[in-house]
Amino acid sequence: MPPPGTALCRLDAIDDPGAKGFVFGGGTQRFEMFLVRNDGAVRAYVNECPHALTPLDIWPDRFLTQDETKIVCATHAALFRIEDGFCTSGPCAGKSLEKLAIEVVDGVVRMAAK
Ligand code: FES
Repeated sequence: MPPPGTALCRLDAIDDPGAKGFVFGGGTQRFEMFLVRNDGAVRAYVNECPHALTPLDIWPDRFLTQDETKIVCATHAALFRIEDGFCTSGPCAGKSLEKLAIEVVDGVVRMAAK
């Protein structure tokens, strides 16, 4: 996981609503996460579905349902609330995405201390 202070992107690089994925490292050190923006807030989650532990997006940056009201896993269509990552339907209903601490400083989203 990138350390606190690591810059991810400018906040205005993500549509509202919208989402953007990030990959750090490689091999066994590979770490994937995504930002999701909606209603003026931005949140970060580990890009790993609690069902099969695979990334949620098959197409880059496609983390939201067509109506952009939920996070969706492209593999088996689990749906997650944007605000807390809780899975409301699908094979991992009742589980949650892992939330990450972020902050916005001078218009840049960056990792924060937990
Ligand atoms: S891997 Fe996400 S719903 Fe199955």
